[in-house]
Amino acid sequence: MRGLTLGILGLGTVGSGVVKILRQNREVLERRVGIPLSIKRIAVRDLKAKRATEVEAELLTTDVWAVVRDPDIDIIVELMGGIEPARSLILEAAAQGKQVVTANKALLAEAWDEVFTAVTRHGVDLGFEASVGGGIPIIRAIREGFVGNRIESIYGIVNGTSNYILTRMTDAGEEFRAVLGEAMAQGYAEPDPTLDIEGIDSAHKITVLAALAFGCRVPFARVFVEGISGITPMDISYARELGYKVKSLAIAKHQDGEIEVRVHPTLIPEGNLLYGVDGVYNAITVIGDMVGANTFIGRGAGLGPSGSAVVGDIVEIARNLATGGRGRVPPAAYRPGHRVELRMKAMDEVLSEYYLRFSVLDQPGVLSKISGVLGRHNISIASVIQKGRRVGETVPLVMMTHHACERDMQAALREIDQIAAEVTARTVLIRVENGA
Ligand SMILES: NC(=O)c1ccc[n+]([C@@H]2O[C@H](COP(=O)([O-])OP(=O)(O)OC[C@H]3O[C@@H](n4cnc5c(N)ncnc54)[C@H](OP(=O)(O)O)[C@@H]3O)[C@@H](O)[C@H]2O)c1
Repeated sequence: MRGLTLGILGLGTVGSGVVKILRQNREVLERRVGIPLSIKRIAVRDLKAKRATEVEAELLTTDVWAVVRDPDIDIIVELMGGIEPARSLILEAAAQGKQVVTANKALLAEAWDEVFTAVTRHGVDLGFEASVGGGIPIIRAIREGFVGNRIESIYGIVNGTSNYILTRMTDAGEEFRAVLGEAMAQGYAEPDPTLDIEGIDSAHKITVLAALAFGCRVPFARVFVEGISGITPMDISYARELGYKVKSLAIAKHQDGEIEVRVHPTLIPEGNLLYGVDGVYNAITVIGDMVGANTFIGRGAGLGPSGSAVVGDIVEIARNLATGGRGRVPPAAYRPGHRVELRMKAMDEVLSEYYLRFSVLDQPGVLSKISGVLGRHNISIASVIQKGRRVGETVPLVMMTHHACERDMQAALREIDQIAAEVTARTVLIRVENGA
């Protein structure tokens, strides 16, 4: 077989990583694949922009459609990001019979059905390893390594920016805004950090992992998402005292024919592998019914790790084309037409343990009023911390609860926060995952 030709859409962080790896490791790649891989065109917006990996001017074009429709190109590698025009370009590439690789979790989470229907209809492969966990081969692990299991749950720290911010807040005791500013100055956070700090990027990733692991439809709009901007050094400090760290956790569970998929700040107990995953690192724990818990830790973003994942997909596709193995592994992990409908729980129905911090006036009877409301809503208290007596002033009252239903918890807090005479500020709630 002749060599394979690539058309790359985008030469930013990930695109530069891909080009660098294809060039720097050309010889070892050829020995592993058996045929040469060459880049025919790279589409960008700005032909003059400075690149982390410089390429010959004649490779560059601003005409994305010409790349997708070039009859000499076998594999389209979409590394532009965003929904449009990435979506239309991927659909067109599939319609042209080209194999597709993408790192675009936003697109996969929001247009999963459309993309997978197109690749199935046109009989092309789709690689998307870089869409979750950067260099961690989590997609391949779920799709192939754990294929003998029913996946019960997945827990992930899948956004390096949020993890970096929470780690700095934990280590330095600084406020969220100050650390965010620092992260932006150092390039660890985007100029517009909304997708990262509000949990949306993690929600995109856990939607992809849940769809792949459970073989069902996971409507992104129904994934519960809460960001980290409400986390304070005070709560981090109380959590530490109780033996926990606060992490932004993406969670997907499958139980009794129902799934739950959510992203929110979470207390993780000391002793759990995810507890020690700090800074920009990502970690994902997959629990299979036979294999048990497996945790993957690695760099979740950046030129090298993301480029490594994309090149892994390119090589898999190239090997399939070279050996006639295309279609052997279904891109969505389940054979087309074998997806099941599983009911997705609303957040209201989810069971969790909770950390609660009440702001209360230090006077007799407050604790019993609060515990009375919790009791009436079926919430039992596991432990209480109240420090320092400042009679007549506002003091924090911290509680850990046993498992309770989110609906009951929210109803109880609404009631408690209305005890205006003694509760002086909105109660802080952080969910706890002791079993993660
Ligand atoms: N950054 C990471 O570490 C990482 C990790 C995993 C996954 N991802 C995903 O990988 C994708 C790319 O991310 P990135 O960080 O590499 O983005 P990036 O640095 O912003 O690069 C995007 C590239 O796409 C080009 N581009 C965008 N829109 C275009 C258009 N309409 N026509 C032609 N070119 C266009 C840009 O051209 P110009 O350079 O000329 O502006 C740029 O080269 C995203 O889906 C992202 O979510 C990123």
